[in-house]
Amino acid sequence: MNEAPVGSFDGVLRGFVFLKQVRARGLVCTKGAMRSTIVACFVVLTGCGQMMMTVDAGPPELICDPAVTTPVTLSATVQAQIFDKQCKSCHNAFDASNGDYSDAARTAAAVAKNSKVAPGLKVLEPNNLGKSVLWLKLNNRKGPAGETLGGVMPPGGALPADQQKLVKDWICTGGT
Ligand code: HEC
Repeated sequence: MNEAPVGSFDGVLRGFVFLKQVRARGLVCTKGAMRSTIVACFVVLTGCGQMMMTVDAGPPELICDPAVTTPVTLSATVQAQIFDKQCKSCHNAFDASNGDYSDAARTAAAVAKNSKVAPGLKVLEPNNLGKSVLWLKLNNRKGPAGETLGGVMPPGGALPADQQKLVKDWICTGGT
């Protein structure tokens, strides 16, 4: 792209130079007309620039991957690859108070509940990473209203990126 970005100083400067040339050729006669044209351009460009800058989709870890449309499910993938390997050593029937993740049926029941650490939120809110305590804890984040959710899960340290991605795609495709 060779054009100056909208709202940039360079763009405004070029507009100014152009208008000066136009005026020099006698096409725009009054200085006042030229000035008001420049002011109007500047206002419009500044407005556009600000709109472009204030578009904020939020932190990347709270955004679903739109390319993933095929549902990732507990029974087919997530239970065996995540909960069995990384979570059920602690999250099991011996102490179910933080969620029993020992098989797919129990995990499904546990994640449908309201969270113990933040009772206003679900452990898993389908298609909503920012309201899913499970996801927020995997990322060591606070809740949407600044709720403190305790430590990162698993407590030994965050999951590797590929495993996090699997959990993300599961939540983002309905969390079933
Ligand atoms: C070493 C033991 C241990 C492991 C492994 C572990 N957790 Fe936890 N988990 C806990 C404890 C203890 C708590 C309660 C304290 C807290 O919330 O930090 C907890 C709390 C939670 C909560 C909050 C539950 C609620 O109702 O608010 C979630 C969600 C959670 N863990 C998810 C996971 C996931 C997912 C994994 C695997 C990727 C995992 N945990 C691995 C010990 C563990």
